[in-house]
Amino acid sequence: RQLVLPRKPNEPPVVFHWLPIIGSAAGYGNDPLNFFFKCREKYGDVFTFILFGRRITVALGSKGNNFVLGGKSIVFNAEDAYTHLTTPVFGKDVVYDVPNEIFMEQKKFVKVGLSTDNLRAYVGMIEEEVEEFLRTDTAFSAFQSGDVNEWGQFDALKALQAITILTASKTLQGQEVREGMDKSFAEIYNDLDGGFTPLNFLFPNLPLPSYRKRDIAHKKISDFYVNIIQQRRNGSTTDHEHDMIAALMQQNYRDGRPLKDHEIAHIMIALLMAGQHTSSATGSWALLHIAERPDISEALYQEQVKYFSNPDGTLRSMTFEELRQLPIMDSIIRETLRIHPPIHSIMRYVRDDMPIPGTLAAPQKDSTYVVPKGHYVLASPLVSQLDPQIWKDADKWEPTRWSDPEGVAAQAYKTYEDAQGEKIDYGFGAVSKGTESPYQPFGAGKHRCIGEQFAYLQLGTIIATIVRHMEIKIDQVPEHNYHTMITLPKTPRMISYRRRK
Ligand code: HEM
Repeated sequence: RQLVLPRKPNEPPVVFHWLPIIGSAAGYGNDPLNFFFKCREKYGDVFTFILFGRRITVALGSKGNNFVLGGKSIVFNAEDAYTHLTTPVFGKDVVYDVPNEIFMEQKKFVKVGLSTDNLRAYVGMIEEEVEEFLRTDTAFSAFQSGDVNEWGQFDALKALQAITILTASKTLQGQEVREGMDKSFAEIYNDLDGGFTPLNFLFPNLPLPSYRKRDIAHKKISDFYVNIIQQRRNGSTTDHEHDMIAALMQQNYRDGRPLKDHEIAHIMIALLMAGQHTSSATGSWALLHIAERPDISEALYQEQVKYFSNPDGTLRSMTFEELRQLPIMDSIIRETLRIHPPIHSIMRYVRDDMPIPGTLAAPQKDSTYVVPKGHYVLASPLVSQLDPQIWKDADKWEPTRWSDPEGVAAQAYKTYEDAQGEKIDYGFGAVSKGTESPYQPFGAGKHRCIGEQFAYLQLGTIIATIVRHMEIKIDQVPEHNYHTMITLPKTPRMISYRRRK
């Protein structure tokens, strides 16, 4: 018997499912992209599915993205959707544990730490850190041997995870955190990370060892940061002018109050988590695709040679400004984020009944659907970024699509960039708009990512440094694993490499 939840005539259609409560958990959880496309065929751009008792109304396409991401936070609320997942990991009094207007102030503080001056200082630091990793990590023994004919292999995701956390800690997180990476920090970080899974999202508290480990790790990491802050306040450490802790220690809320030590600590944890999975996943997908395409791999290397050759044939370091002007590198990162946006579902909790514009979906002419209070709304930029109605050869990784200034990709990017330039005031009372671009790997509207520039810089420097030193190849790019919060490449994902001549 078909189980359909009681629904009012003006509520969106409910996706067919056999099991009450559990609903469409298997279809959505195993392959959200396929699930969304199939549902779109049957029900159109707007439908509701059941996920362990939650009612989730999906709005697809660029209009759907705009509806969800452009919604006002008093109606479509991020805190209510995420706090049970994030507060145990990040800690109290930050991000989704505080009212939206406080978080928006905190976002503004972080933006200060991500100033162009700071970003400029990071390129060389990241390059050094990657080179040090290639010189010392056991997966790169064939590189270390110095023999240009010896091939080795590395696991794309594992290498990128290690490189991402090392480079983020060296730069944004600060010297003390980087030193901790060589000691106990990495292990505690793994325990904390074990609390950031779809299971934690669905069930905030279960009597499982991973939940206990998460809580112990949170306390240890929070204390670790508070200790760094206190030592800095006592003046017992120096040399950290460009990092985020230094920036946050100088900020005040609008009422004049400085950030408390535990707030700085918890913002630092939030940034660590926000940047780690997203950037390491993107970096590993990018390398996997580059390795599969010898033509792109060669073009990328030649781009480095063209822009950065010294008279003696060696390659000099890049600057932040130069890095943003490299067309091939830029299109590789854009294209990777198009096919593999790390966050496939962006959710908000619906605090009040919300009519859906008739241009997005309507039951009949002259009537509208309403998303009822108590539902969640979900936008999936993944769907619009892979929509065959918009993109030619939508599921093909083809960086060259970004080079045609009149092409679909360039137009989508323009709408996307325009929205970034749009005045989003992170203070009180500002209304931020969403955007109708089909390309939104960093989200849109008030909750749009503030780490985008850092991510491009980090990814660009990591990829360039690897490609400068090694040739890489792989027969096939692996499938997606959707069972983690961030979409990852499945195993096997071994890239073959050899030292460049
Ligand atoms: C928000 C993606 C890297 C910090 C977001 C959102 C997306 C996203 C889609 C919107 C979430 C929502 O609306 O619910 C990415 C991708 C990254 C990346 C694809 C890398 C490739 C980073 C980095 C940082 C960061 C490196 C920190 C340095 C944040 C913050 C928010 C955010 C603070 C705001 C959350 C909110 O306002 O609710 N990111 N991100 N992200 N991201 Fe990123």
